[in-house]
Amino acid sequence: MIYFDHAASSYPKPPEVVQAVSEALTDYGANPGRGNYALAEKAANVINETRQELAHFFGLSNPNRVIFFQNATMALNQAILGFPFQKRDHVITTTFEHNSVRRPLEACVLEKGIDVTYIRIRDGEFHEEKWSEALRDNTKLITVTHASNVTGELMPLDAISQFAKQHNIPLLVDASQTAGVLSINMEKMGIDLLAFPGHKSLLGPQGIGVLLIGEEVELNPLVYGGTGAHSESRNQPEALPYKFESGTVNTPGIAGLLAGLRVVKERTLEAIRKHEIELANECFHQLNMIDGIDVYGKADVGVVAFSIKGVDSHEIAMILDQHYQIAVRAGLHCAPLAHEQLETLNTGLIRVSFGFTNTKEEVDTFIDAIKEINQYY
Ligand SMILES: Cc1ncc(COP(=O)(O)O)c(C=O)c1O
Repeated sequence: MIYFDHAASSYPKPPEVVQAVSEALTDYGANPGRGNYALAEKAANVINETRQELAHFFGLSNPNRVIFFQNATMALNQAILGFPFQKRDHVITTTFEHNSVRRPLEACVLEKGIDVTYIRIRDGEFHEEKWSEALRDNTKLITVTHASNVTGELMPLDAISQFAKQHNIPLLVDASQTAGVLSINMEKMGIDLLAFPGHKSLLGPQGIGVLLIGEEVELNPLVYGGTGAHSESRNQPEALPYKFESGTVNTPGIAGLLAGLRVVKERTLEAIRKHEIELANECFHQLNMIDGIDVYGKADVGVVAFSIKGVDSHEIAMILDQHYQIAVRAGLHCAPLAHEQLETLNTGLIRVSFGFTNTKEEVDTFIDAIKEINQYY
């Protein structure tokens, strides 16, 4: 079986991750922060270590501002729904956002009366006039995905960050497709809020996502409850991470994420990116040479999207799965505005995405399968 859906979740997980999850379940499966006995402390130590390593890896000075959630979607919801918007406040974002950004924004439009401007990014370029035109006196947040999960295109993050800083507007970055592939330093890159999943390129298990909250940002919690600290208080504690982490956290998921992060560090971001880009470029160019196939984007990360002669993308994905045992993702990839811009809303696109364990031979097998399928249409 060939697995080409790493943009959705990386698979298989490294043995170090499997072992770390298993150890958390078998060796110290107590409730972190809820007991002062050795097992609970061991769990709490692993969690604190993970906060520290993540803070250091992503350029945030205070590890207590590393908050764990069950996925990137929940981390993004916390950042957006928890943002202290007033009626008629305004947000600038892009047409490449995942529904995990777009839907909480649209919920704020309905529930809080904010306005959202979606900027069309083309070829990863920043056009100052578009952003200046969108800017309002009450623009309170800019939110952008680092790379499109449809086309693999990088957004012009440096220019967007400079624009945000110039106008004193906090910047939220959805690093779902880049955390664990590209170097991201919040302080150096002017990022105020950074959200990412633990289960994609950081190689952790499913059920873990992270939000890093810069020193200058104040958010309201979305969930209230027991935090294992400040129990005497009637109200949710103000201290982080407790303010945003009510209830028992996912200790096995966090332990797995720590192991995944260490594997990434050992392999190095440079080697990971080089390998994934080589596969993506190879795939991109080979697909481009086949008559009747349209390839989209420019594979800045290990993601390539294409269509075959206007055929529904689900049909092709089903054939790939059932006849060739190749797993790819079809459809709109939870990013309908990107498909609207690419004019692929009706058929969707077939998306292949690569991980460190994929090989050039697998790409060749895939291309042979596509050539064969293409003959029948
Ligand atoms: C760009 C982007 N944002 C957000 C998400 C949501 O991630 P999760 O499934 O961890 O909630 C994804 C997942 O595909 C994504 O690609």
